[in-house]
Amino acid sequence: MASDTDASIDRIKAAPDLQALEAERVSALGKQGAITQLLKTLGAMTPEQRQAEGPRIHALREAVTDAIAARKAALEGAALEQRLATEKLDLTLPVPPPLEGSVHPVSQVMDELAEIFADLGFAVATGPEIEDDWRNFTALNIPETHPARAMHDTFYFPDQDAGGQRMLLRTHTSPVQIRTMQSQQPPIYIIAPGRTYRSDSDATHTPMFHQVEGLVIDRGIHLGHLKWTLETFLKAYFERDDIVLRMRPSYFPFTEPSAEVDVGYTMVKGRRVLGGNEGWMELLGSGMVHPKVIAACGLDPEEWQGFAFGCGIDRLAMLKYGMDDLRAFFDGDLRWLKHYGFSALDVPTLSGGVGA
Ligand code: DAH
Repeated sequence: MASDTDASIDRIKAAPDLQALEAERVSALGKQGAITQLLKTLGAMTPEQRQAEGPRIHALREAVTDAIAARKAALEGAALEQRLATEKLDLTLPVPPPLEGSVHPVSQVMDELAEIFADLGFAVATGPEIEDDWRNFTALNIPETHPARAMHDTFYFPDQDAGGQRMLLRTHTSPVQIRTMQSQQPPIYIIAPGRTYRSDSDATHTPMFHQVEGLVIDRGIHLGHLKWTLETFLKAYFERDDIVLRMRPSYFPFTEPSAEVDVGYTMVKGRRVLGGNEGWMELLGSGMVHPKVIAACGLDPEEWQGFAFGCGIDRLAMLKYGMDDLRAFFDGDLRWLKHYGFSALDVPTLSGGVGA
């Protein structure tokens, strides 16, 4: 009997597909199966015989069951591998009508930003979302003991990278400043849009959100350049010439001096409309890049100066297109996407109007 079982297990191990495996299962464990028949003989045995034969027969059944499970897992795994290798879907392709795909407002705003800043001579830079502690914090003048670290509600990874660095999900797009200064010689004019992460969730915070970072490193750069750039950017973005900015002294470890920038609004029929200066809304953080940050990237702060700014893209989208709950951005609700989404053919251009 044991040798019959061995042969059955060999066939199971060699079963070429799930159908053949099922046939083997039926022939061993099915109603008329060999093992089932063996189990039935237990009933007619004396208690002594059963004591000897019972464990042996059950062990055979277990061996066959285990072999079937192992072969099934292997065949299913191979089938999945094959599907993954052959089935490819390019999720970035626009969906043609009548299927109603649309461009997410965040993507649209990122395109608008790239278009506006390209016109001012800025390139788009990127960096990884899994970042190291040094670039996310230390090089930005936020050392280990700095209280600003606690404000970032950071998602840390349990393991360190090969160089012994603590890894994390970047809490802002500012580490792209570091990466750019490390890899390029000034003059540098970049924006860095992308995903950022913090452990935070309510109507205006989601654990994953989007920021755009701006960085200029050149000779003789001063606060006036920063203000002009932000004004030009926001007028183009909101498509209004009456956009008024207010810079308030603030503090960021990576800029000195630092300024928070508010944008003015006017009340129209009980609603806030951007433009004018009846009231102020906080919009972004900015400042002159701290000499320590420039030095940390291997550049001489006596020779190179610059400004930087950081802004929530989701907030920019909400202000321009009138959404009020950030969480809806990431629900994937088709009705919301249909209402707030953009046509794939509606590419923002300065000449056509970036809001399209
Ligand atoms: N990194 C800041 C944050 O996430 C935003 C920021 C503020 C970026 C000032 C800057 C800056 O480049 O100059 O809160």
